[in-house]
Amino acid sequence: MSIQEQLLNIETEAVTKINAANSQVELNDLRAFYMGKKSPLAEIMKSMATLSIEDKKVIGKLANEVKVRIESAVTERRAYLEAEEVNKRLKSETIDVTLPGKEFKVGTSHPLSRTIEEVQEIFIGMGYSIAEGPEVEVDLYNFEMLNVPKGHPARDMQDSFYITENLLMRTQTSPVQVRTLLEKKGAPVKILAPGKVYRRDDDDATHSHQFMQFEGLVVDKHITMSDLKGTLQLFVQKMFGDSRKIRFKPSYFPFTEPSVEVDVSCFKCGGKGCSMCKQSGWIEVLGAGMVHPNVLSAAGYDPKVYRGFAFGIGIERVTMLRHGIDDIRNFYLNDKRFLEQFKGEN
Ligand code: PHE
Repeated sequence: MSIQEQLLNIETEAVTKINAANSQVELNDLRAFYMGKKSPLAEIMKSMATLSIEDKKVIGKLANEVKVRIESAVTERRAYLEAEEVNKRLKSETIDVTLPGKEFKVGTSHPLSRTIEEVQEIFIGMGYSIAEGPEVEVDLYNFEMLNVPKGHPARDMQDSFYITENLLMRTQTSPVQVRTLLEKKGAPVKILAPGKVYRRDDDDATHSHQFMQFEGLVVDKHITMSDLKGTLQLFVQKMFGDSRKIRFKPSYFPFTEPSVEVDVSCFKCGGKGCSMCKQSGWIEVLGAGMVHPNVLSAAGYDPKVYRGFAFGIGIERVTMLRHGIDDIRNFYLNDKRFLEQFKGEN
């Protein structure tokens, strides 16, 4: 067989195999075999040393042409395999737009946060500003300047978590009254102070060692108890519905005089008497009263010139009453089944 024939045979064999290659890997192997240093083509080139110059020219040219043709067969096959791969993927990866999508769940604000926002809005609408105080409070502001000296029996009701003898977790938001009065130095005051409070209570369905309150305080020259009643009547209607009434019952707080417990007509029966209001027609919602002269004068206000009212509202209690929630602990468990029930409200 002449060298020319051998070369053409190699070409035929290589191109046939290349055109039959079914993967890039297979193609790479074939290319390495036919184009590499030890390929049949390279062997023939080596053996050309013994040929005449004339033959060398002719055969060298042919060998080069064969090489180029094998190379272009590889290039073509590579392009074909790539196109086939893309087509295969296009077929297998088509998206079925009729399949149900993935649901992304959006959280809701906590029912207590909603109550805080709503109550704040109601009082801001009446000209109040929002005040804050620390949760770790001095005994002086939490008790003493609120007319509860050391050893006063009223401390028992709120026996609390002490950090040192004179520092405790605040038992009520009322110390914000003292802080605000001291800060305003004799000027009129109209504030609402939301925040956490702490008491050494046993945790049960209606008590928690930590809960939240709103403190309201208004101090000016002509404030009367009817201002307090009008304010609370409006608040209760906005919060619980237009037909709600309130009533004042005499009570006792050391820092207000007179002091009252405030009841709302039952939302369930409207006042006729049912299981929710224990047949009384009324539900207790908050404590309030006229600021005690001792509290005013301790903070530098002349009680003969200035008067004021204050009230304290339990945030959990208001939320429980509005939504018919029967266990305070639900608020703190972070159970989605509970929290999701408040989706989309307000
Ligand atoms: N601080 C009182 C309590 O926690 C509530 C209250 C506030 C009563 C303001 C009267 C005036 O029980």
